[in-house]
Amino acid sequence: MSRIAYVNGSYVPHANACIHIEDRGYQFADGIYEVWAVRAGKLLDSSGHFRRMGRSLGELRIATPMSDGALDVVLHEVVRKNRVRDGLVYLQITRGVAPRDHAFPKDIVPSIVITAKSMNVAEAERKAQKGIAVITVPDERWTRCDIKSVSLLPNILAKQSAVEQGAYEAWMVDEKGMVTEGSSSNAWIITEGDVLVTRNLSNDILGGITRERVLKLAAERQLSVEERAFSLKEARKAKEAFISSSINLVTPITHIDKQPVGDGKPGAMACALRKDYLQSAAT
Ligand code: PDD
Repeated sequence: MSRIAYVNGSYVPHANACIHIEDRGYQFADGIYEVWAVRAGKLLDSSGHFRRMGRSLGELRIATPMSDGALDVVLHEVVRKNRVRDGLVYLQITRGVAPRDHAFPKDIVPSIVITAKSMNVAEAERKAQKGIAVITVPDERWTRCDIKSVSLLPNILAKQSAVEQGAYEAWMVDEKGMVTEGSSSNAWIITEGDVLVTRNLSNDILGGITRERVLKLAAERQLSVEERAFSLKEARKAKEAFISSSINLVTPITHIDKQPVGDGKPGAMACALRKDYLQSAAT
């Protein structure tokens, strides 16, 4: 079955889908994106992703191309047309097409692209059960990491370093030695004293929608939680560590820079939170 993409109002074969060469997303990374996990055909944490999309567009002063209601219909239609039961749906909105000029062009119409793809859930579960390795890299990003912008060069370079070192994710570390987040996920530890720690929201990290849900689940479990910066040194001594994102949900970390976290096996609390997440998101 051939894949279908939504591009500026039309459903087109994925293989032929295109955007103009003077799209500002292509020339300046002048745009935003969102990724929803899809499970059993349902978009997980949908309203959170809509809220963040609106915020990112507002921060970049890009016009909202359609209402949330209309967009929701299109997202589901792309999922349906691609027969995605479990997978993800990707949305990208850029400022639009105009002759190259750094300043915002007048009367520009935003470009919108939506794609969906299936994923192998059994494989994802196997990965989560095995746990992942992360490496660390300096955080070389700009100071507005709270915007889900398509400008991701430092993130892809970080991820590539991870892949080249046989790891799955790269944790970015600021100039003070504090972990900000992963190249495409939020970072968490559970301290020796059983406190769940993740960096507080600020311009330094993306406010993950999965992060938000995990904080709610942790409260339901009455865990001690601290939203604060933690150092790489503290992470190395942690009992458990994990990442969160719409693609990885909650995935335990077994190694940081090749050193085992705890006993080097996926942590019990990380595994429990993943289970909680799957249960709560499905309802
Ligand atoms: N990334 N931090 C960064 C830098 C991210 O890119 C992401 C998500 C997250 C987690 O956000 P959420 O829980 O809302 O998915 C945190 C997506 C999945 C991506 O780039 O593919």
